[in-house]
Amino acid sequence: MTLPLLEPTLSGPRVVPVLVLDDPEDAVSLAKALVAGGLTTLEVTLRTPKALACAEAIAAKVPDALVGLGTLVRPEQFAQARDAGARFLVSPGLTDTLAQAAKATGLPYLPGIATVSEALIAWEHGFRELKFFPAMLNGGVPALKGMAPLIPEVRFCPTGGIKAENLRDFLALPNVFTVGGTWLTPADAVKERRWADIERLAREASALAGSPLAGQA
Ligand code: 3PG
Repeated sequence: MTLPLLEPTLSGPRVVPVLVLDDPEDAVSLAKALVAGGLTTLEVTLRTPKALACAEAIAAKVPDALVGLGTLVRPEQFAQARDAGARFLVSPGLTDTLAQAAKATGLPYLPGIATVSEALIAWEHGFRELKFFPAMLNGGVPALKGMAPLIPEVRFCPTGGIKAENLRDFLALPNVFTVGGTWLTPADAVKERRWADIERLAREASALAGSPLAGQA
């Protein structure tokens, strides 16, 4: 019997800003504001035509940021993300084809799941860190509590409806290693280049999240 392949994992961050970016120059300013606020692991979503260029710009110009690419929903996007300098990869769901494409990059990968069955499929593929998405719509904290005894080896990054008000409830769960979301980068603040506001939101989230717990770093 072959054991499932254990994928490289993403350790350390407690809060991951999920970014929707249109402009590489603004992307760099935004990333600098988030890093200044204490958040250094950033997910750039592949939801805009310039997303790859934005991730590339952050990787090149903000050395303290660890940039990943998310919203990967087609197999060809995985190699593109790696070539753009992504250090980790994220999808909102998982298929066999996406699992193969992710493994071929050798990068840490968070596939999205919403149910126990989907978590088991991801586990069978060898993934041990999963995105729970959309977290609030799929039961939030009680759902994650319910999954813990069924698949104790798996750790989750819930996203979808996480905010400053509820992030501590999620981070208090032993099977949650980080949370992600767009609340740190409100669209109007990005559009108006209010980087100081974004730094303040990042600082607030860093303070709420605290340091990585022993054994989870
Ligand atoms: C994601 O892709 O992780 C979500 O769009 C984040 O959800 P949010 O906008 O509710 O934070």
